[in-house]
Amino acid sequence: MGRVEGKVALVTGAASGLGAADAALLAREGAKVILTDVDAALGHSVAAGIPGAVFVEHDVRDERAWKTIVDQIMADHGRLDVLVNNAGVVKFASIEDCSLDDFRFVNSVMSEGTFLGCRTALPAMLANGGGSIINMGSIAGVKGVSAVLGYCAAKGAIHALTRSVAAYCRERSNGVRCNAIVAGSIRTPMIQKALREMSPDNPSFDELEGHGQGEPSDVANMVLYLASDEARHVNGASLTIDNGETA
Ligand SMILES: NC(=O)c1ccc[n+]([C@@H]2O[C@H](COP(=O)([O-])OP(=O)(O)OC[C@H]3O[C@@H](n4cnc5c(N)ncnc54)[C@H](O)[C@@H]3O)[C@@H](O)[C@H]2O)c1
Repeated sequence: MGRVEGKVALVTGAASGLGAADAALLAREGAKVILTDVDAALGHSVAAGIPGAVFVEHDVRDERAWKTIVDQIMADHGRLDVLVNNAGVVKFASIEDCSLDDFRFVNSVMSEGTFLGCRTALPAMLANGGGSIINMGSIAGVKGVSAVLGYCAAKGAIHALTRSVAAYCRERSNGVRCNAIVAGSIRTPMIQKALREMSPDNPSFDELEGHGQGEPSDVANMVLYLASDEARHVNGASLTIDNGETA
């Protein structure tokens, strides 16, 4: 028996990095996994390598498409047990040079995308008595990283939103849990690109480079735990995985 045997899981931003690793591990542990992403070519090829997985092109900012996807999952499988709100983007800009457009873009993908995911998944999870929502936060949501102002704001919002959803579910004892992962620097295309773009004399460089970066599988193991029934009493938590960077 896998640790999430028989569960149905939706992972956003699953064409790359952490989302792809989450999807692969959840499937290996027995879940039926639906991957979504804006990058359809990569998404289809990642899903093709995961037994039983399907890919659906989706921009997490698209409210109507959220409903279509979740309705389709309910029609196909009759249940949605796990949602991993993982899709993310980063723009390099500090308080001195961040445009309103860039601030809004990053916040619309991560803060609004996560909100839409939670709101759409909740009724579907309630139809089967519960579920697990896992939101990708960041250490940038709990401490300042000067070079990515909008990213910090969006991740901070995700942590606050996670706690509000968790409190709502606890008040109703409705069986849904909502937790966030506070990840430090993990070796993915997002971070590798950031390090290439950033000069080593930028004050944020060391923080992003991390002290021994984590691997996507490290985060996927935490996602697996939160998705599984082993975490049945874990709700509203911000689980940190940063090798002590914020300790
Ligand atoms: N890598 C790290 O060090 C790290 C640390 C903390 C948090 N995170 C968070 O983990 C998540 C995954 O990051 P990653 O490092 O794997 O990055 P990544 O760039 O490898 O993957 C992000 C994925 O999100 C997709 N995406 C972007 N905009 C989207 C949208 N509007 N709708 C749907 N999909 C969209 C991208 O196409 C990409 O496939 C992000 O939320 C990121 O902020 C990453």
